[in-house]
Amino acid sequence: MSRTKAIFLFFMLQITLVFAQSPPGYDLWLGYSEIEEPALLKEYQNTFKSIYFQNGNEMLHAAERELTTGIKKMLRKLPDFEKLRNSENTVVIAKKSNLESSLLKRLAFDFDQLGADGFVIKTVLFERKQVLIVTANEDIGILYGVFGLLNLMQQRESLKHIMLSDAPKVNIRMLNHWDNLDRTVERGYAGFSLWNWQKLPEYIDQRYIDYARANASIGINAVSLTNVNANALILTPAYLEKVQALAKVFRPYGIKIYLTARFSAPIEIGGLETADPLDLNVQNWWHGKVKEIYDYIPDFGGFLVKANSEGQPGPQNYGRSHVDGANMMAMALEPFGGNVIWRAFVYSEHDTSDRAKQAYTQFVPFDGKFRDNVLVQTKNGAIDFQPREPFHPMFGAMPKTPLMMEFQITQEYLGFSTHLVFLPKLFEEVLHSDTYSKGKGSTVAKVIAGSLNQKKLTGMAGVANIGTDLNWTGHPFAQANWYGFGRMAWDPYLDSETIANEWIKATYSQNPNFITAIKSMMLTSREAVVNYMNPLGLHHIFDTGHHYGPGPWVSELSRPEWNPVYYHKADEKGIGFNRTPSGSDATAQYAPELAKIFNDPKTCPEEYLLWFHHLPWDYKLKNGHTLWDGLALKYQQGVDQVKTMIVTWDDSKQYITPEQHNEVRMLLQIQLREAKWWRDACLLYFQTFSKQALPEGVNKPTKTLAYYKSLKFPFAPGIRPQWH
Ligand code: GCU
Repeated sequence: MSRTKAIFLFFMLQITLVFAQSPPGYDLWLGYSEIEEPALLKEYQNTFKSIYFQNGNEMLHAAERELTTGIKKMLRKLPDFEKLRNSENTVVIAKKSNLESSLLKRLAFDFDQLGADGFVIKTVLFERKQVLIVTANEDIGILYGVFGLLNLMQQRESLKHIMLSDAPKVNIRMLNHWDNLDRTVERGYAGFSLWNWQKLPEYIDQRYIDYARANASIGINAVSLTNVNANALILTPAYLEKVQALAKVFRPYGIKIYLTARFSAPIEIGGLETADPLDLNVQNWWHGKVKEIYDYIPDFGGFLVKANSEGQPGPQNYGRSHVDGANMMAMALEPFGGNVIWRAFVYSEHDTSDRAKQAYTQFVPFDGKFRDNVLVQTKNGAIDFQPREPFHPMFGAMPKTPLMMEFQITQEYLGFSTHLVFLPKLFEEVLHSDTYSKGKGSTVAKVIAGSLNQKKLTGMAGVANIGTDLNWTGHPFAQANWYGFGRMAWDPYLDSETIANEWIKATYSQNPNFITAIKSMMLTSREAVVNYMNPLGLHHIFDTGHHYGPGPWVSELSRPEWNPVYYHKADEKGIGFNRTPSGSDATAQYAPELAKIFNDPKTCPEEYLLWFHHLPWDYKLKNGHTLWDGLALKYQQGVDQVKTMIVTWDDSKQYITPEQHNEVRMLLQIQLREAKWWRDACLLYFQTFSKQALPEGVNKPTKTLAYYKSLKFPFAPGIRPQWH
């Protein structure tokens, strides 16, 4: 290359690097910051001298493009790709079937353990040279392997002696978008829906591609685009064309599309008079509809269904069961390899039993009755994505059914997108919980990964926290929840600390002081929100409808279980929901070993105390405080923890840009104000029953209970705006 040409190319590269800057936060954990450590930079530069990247289809191209982006940014150098394998190659990225046998021999790896999605990254000595190999059985494994390699570099790991193999432990790793066709997002706090239905199918927003990249980088391989409170129109040709366009964007990134199917669609868009699952015309309609969908999207994933829940239509409208409904759809999807994901989030106005018991009561008798391509998707707890819930008893009670986990990544009950709460802590707590269903060690993670009950079809879903905000998730730290969800869906045994560590390095900084401080802030943030909102097992005391802020006094809604008073049951004697045999007996839905622990307030973990027990205000907690004092002190502790988070953040200012610092600082101030609001409003209200003074150490509220009760938020985000 001539010198002038080299100089010209150098300047062009600088220009692209400068102009390719995305808005702050847009790059998520894929910012690929420049390697500043000289020794490591040198090592990487040597490693990436000559890359053989197997030529191929769209998926391999996507992987190659990502590697180019990553190397360009981290090494500030365009990688040299060779289309033909030669002896100069220092990196070889190819499927097993494309590797020469001598190299395979050197690799000495059992590919069977990788399945389709797994990959190996290994440096071997080959023909007297170090060669870094990224290989897999399938294209998708190569894509994940490339993201794995980039992640290692973002973690600043040496590749000299690398030997990493990884494969997902769960098959369906899915985001559930609760996006409406008008682009509002139910429980969405990061702007509007990404899916621009009006401009689709022609207009492909770059964000669709970047969204797919981000998902693929953490192993997410399925998305359901639309709200579970479904609109049947999504199943009509006008929308299917648009869905097809999105499927085309997602395909190279290994992501399958699912749609939410409204059970009454045969009536609403099919012109039938019934949606009875045992009616032949209804069955034929679904068969025809499914075939039509597969004509548009040959790799369509299937349906996600919310039926007979919160007013949604379902088989029970016709006197049929969940099994009748799910199996009818499953039969239509089966010939095409599609799945039905049937949600277990059900409770009924006609059932006066404890809401926490109802899903179990409705579903457990059907264990083993669902067709093979049905998964029952169950929320992590028996009520509704509260800051803390004991794990859902169904996880220990349906060994013959593939149970899919549903977590909520969007923070409906955890401070929207203004509170910094690191959710992998919550996910980990649930996944590590022991169901005892097959003796000690029968963790929820094993149920979800299918190893406890030998399930082939497994899945984990997270309700997405993504919208049109420039940084995707509203709060920059909410990106860590998307990231962490994906990592745990891939490997439910991962711990939250590892995830926090990875995310901080990939997103913010490599500085060890910053990492230590911010990691500890993230890891305490979940306990903080529990403390200032729902300590000691309290739950569902949020203001009505929008769930913004406290509303423990709400008591006048038409259905008893919609009222917070139903959940805390505070009275002059005490507080809490008695779910022991002398109360609703919900504990009987757990394994006897656990029921025994939960039934006795002395052995019940205190974080679940008021979930399972109604206790007098002067009940003695383990630390010697009375229940009233202990409750008040927990609220105060939550507020104090947020104050500490602010100090930690301010102390870490020097390691990040002023913009990055300021953005989170402002959000933390909102969080502090709202934490105090929760503390003061709840304590003033509960004090009307306890009739006791606040203990020492708890700040006195500055406003009255009447003031807190008077607050109204008709335009809180996450609910459909009312335009009148
Ligand atoms: C919660 C949430 C609803 C949602 C429902 C569900 O109740 O508030 O907006 O539709 O969960 O999971 O179906």
